[in-house]
Amino acid sequence: MTPPPAELVAHLEDHGQHHALAGWSLLDPAERVQLIEELMALDFAQLAQLYRDREATYAVPEPHRIDPLPGVRPDEPDAEAKSVGEKALERGEVAALVVAGGLGSRLGFEHPKGLFPIGPVTGKSLFQFHAEKVLARSRRHGKPIPFLVMTSHATHAETVYFFEKHNFFGLARETVHFFQQGTMPALDLATGRVLLEHPGRLFAGPDGHGGTLTALAKSGLLARLADSGIRHIFYWQVDNPLVKIADPTFLGHHIRDRADVSSKVIPKDGPHDKLGNFVLIDGKLAMIEYSDLPDELARSTEPDGRLRIRAGNPAIHVFDVGFLSRVTEAGLPFHLARKKVPHWDHATGDIVNPAKENALKFERFIFDVLPLAERYAAVETARHEEFAPLKNASGADSEATVKRAMSDLAASWLKAAGVRVKDGAAIELSPLTALEPDDVAGMKLPGEVADGTVL
Ligand code: UTP
Repeated sequence: MTPPPAELVAHLEDHGQHHALAGWSLLDPAERVQLIEELMALDFAQLAQLYRDREATYAVPEPHRIDPLPGVRPDEPDAEAKSVGEKALERGEVAALVVAGGLGSRLGFEHPKGLFPIGPVTGKSLFQFHAEKVLARSRRHGKPIPFLVMTSHATHAETVYFFEKHNFFGLARETVHFFQQGTMPALDLATGRVLLEHPGRLFAGPDGHGGTLTALAKSGLLARLADSGIRHIFYWQVDNPLVKIADPTFLGHHIRDRADVSSKVIPKDGPHDKLGNFVLIDGKLAMIEYSDLPDELARSTEPDGRLRIRAGNPAIHVFDVGFLSRVTEAGLPFHLARKKVPHWDHATGDIVNPAKENALKFERFIFDVLPLAERYAAVETARHEEFAPLKNASGADSEATVKRAMSDLAASWLKAAGVRVKDGAAIELSPLTALEPDDVAGMKLPGEVADGTVL
């Protein structure tokens, strides 16, 4: 039997991770090569540091250090901002980036989430809606919009195949750029050792949506985009089919304010709304997750009755390319979660299904880049117009609620154009037909549309 490379063995021994080779004799040559590659790619010093810091729990700062996000632009038409955004699109300075590397475990769909058939009538996939919005927007402004799709080891192959099978949904092949985020191994909570899924494979997951920045830089894509004149990257999450991709007014606010980062903001509909909270901490922009916001602060109100902390985060941003080039080098911090992770026990050779949390998993969050921004713009939007995330198999944020939101938005555009729509009807508007209500107003329309209409 070929032994494992001596250099690797020494490296693992130095870091107390030698057990990772315990199944070596059970592996075929290809599996051995793969395991060596996986292990060589790990930064064991960083893992050891993360393990040492495992008890350093995140503490929300004292309420007096937290202030509401100031200066949120109201959700109003702004012709001047729109024109600034349109000019940037016409000059070809905008790219569109969707993060699609997550495991989608709550949804329980057996493919990458972007393949989910979300069209209320046609069953078109999330990816198709996104791609058609990019296509329609680029046609409108006469310049291609590079479409950047971040995948992970878990979603990459199927995502690329899906785009190829569907001929890139009409986009020019060379304008679609797939790039893969990194992975992070899970560590045994009791020992800090890496866990194995089976004898030849580490248990590892995508490194969080914050991995976008490192992956963009490492893949060379960020530098290529900058060289080709891209100055603004519009960012969103694959599970939100309502997003207004490369919304010119939003881009215009971002550009006029010379912002490093800009965000869409949704007013929270109550103290326990499950949106993350944009706030200032000691005067610096930051995000506090809904589960971390102290109840007293979540409930506190302004004299006019509105919630004091009310700027919810739908994860729609614009990043300045120069800013990203400056901040991606170091990478964002890791957040740690305790999880139940089934794994191969190298001592017994059995698969262990733990009854309680046995592992540490690590993820980076994109919003940790916010405090690094010197200039920032926030623009309010209405939830029903721009945010309906597909997260769960049933209940809130599930297929039924997302399809309802899509139909309702389409119906509202049609109604505004004088068309009668039956309450509760399933209606679908293709992004290639209309990107905004004005597009519908300009169309030749029937007096009434029935359930199951596609326009
Ligand atoms: P979520 O945090 O909702 O995770 O991701 P998820 O993978 O979709 O679902 P659960 O939590 O496993 O049920 C929000 C967005 O960030 C992307 C997801 O693909 C989704 O668009 N994401 C998340 C990544 O691209 N990479 C990650 O490592 C995590």
